[in-house]
Amino acid sequence: MKTNLLKDIVKKIFIRHGLSIKHASICVEALINAELVGAPSHGISRLKMYCDRISKNVINPRAKIKIKKISQSISHINGNNNIGFVAADTAINIAINSAKKTGIGLVAVKNSGHYGLSGYYAEQAVKKGLMVMVFTNAPPAVAPHGALKSLFGTNPICFGTPTGSKVPFILDTSISMINRGKIRLAAREGSKIPKGVALDKFGRPTTDPKKALEGVQLPIAEFRGSGLAWMVDILSGVLTGGNHAGRVKDPFTDFSGPQNIGHLFFVLKPNLFVGNSFNKRIKDNIKTIKRLPKINGVKEILYPGQSKFNRFKNNLKKEIHITKAVLKDLEYLQSI
Ligand SMILES: NC(=O)c1ccc[n+]([C@@H]2O[C@H](COP(=O)([O-])OP(=O)(O)OC[C@H]3O[C@@H](n4cnc5c(N)ncnc54)[C@H](O)[C@@H]3O)[C@@H](O)[C@H]2O)c1
Repeated sequence: MKTNLLKDIVKKIFIRHGLSIKHASICVEALINAELVGAPSHGISRLKMYCDRISKNVINPRAKIKIKKISQSISHINGNNNIGFVAADTAINIAINSAKKTGIGLVAVKNSGHYGLSGYYAEQAVKKGLMVMVFTNAPPAVAPHGALKSLFGTNPICFGTPTGSKVPFILDTSISMINRGKIRLAAREGSKIPKGVALDKFGRPTTDPKKALEGVQLPIAEFRGSGLAWMVDILSGVLTGGNHAGRVKDPFTDFSGPQNIGHLFFVLKPNLFVGNSFNKRIKDNIKTIKRLPKINGVKEILYPGQSKFNRFKNNLKKEIHITKAVLKDLEYLQSI
């Protein structure tokens, strides 16, 4: 489907679900960006989930985002059970402005929802020449190391920096072997998931996405991944006033209340310690690594975000592929 047509349809659906034109536009841009960077698991396939949560009064479509300024650099946002994208958009903009003024911007968000891809917000800071870290927690999916039950979300860790070229460095990774969105998409489309990423509810390895959703996802690098997930839960949940310790509700299956997800945005000027030589230093860093001898079959050592940047550029020229299941959602959401 043509990007503009899809944007128009999705925007109208959000507006019919009670969002203001401004908030609907923020959500549309985030969802379409996910499609364009090749992450359809965080794109339009989630639209029905957001709308269902609005209809069941567990997302507030008219959220009034409250901003508490703690200092020139630090703000605390109460997202008022917004759809996630709206508070995250406010937060990254405040963090960027604070960093421009004072060198650093730190914004914590509570009472929020699923905001899609962390990298989308990181890119906005990097485009302004700033370094950035973004954290969010998510519903239980991964068992803490040594535990029998999932509790951590796939809690992405995201870091971005200008590179001295137009292609930003954006490391944006779940702490699970694969992100949960990919498993949900596979379950909807009846495809299998790779081996070694999940266990069923009896603790047996599975490639069946439905069984994986009932069981646990495996963290990256065993106890190290579990530790990173825990760190993200503390930074985005405990620190911000958001839910934590497994209390974030699953957006697809638990309509008993709002998610109260927490996010943390930390933006800083890259020249804080080395002045204008940062540009030269980051270029030298990347060049040195890219020049290393390569293993067989590798043409180029890529830095995080490089492939995504190229995918985005190529996808801009194409129509967005909409699966049958998502088309059905769109038809349904337009009809209600
Ligand atoms: N909001 C939420 O609750 C939530 C939860 C989990 C994940 N997510 C999002 O899902 C998205 C996907 O996460 P993911 O774990 O599937 O990411 P991924 O596995 O696709 O990529 C992880 C990182 O590795 C980098 N990378 C990939 N191939 C590379 C290569 N050959 N060389 C060097 N670097 C390479 C990517 O640029 C990326 O930064 C992220 O944007 C994340 O923010 C959101």
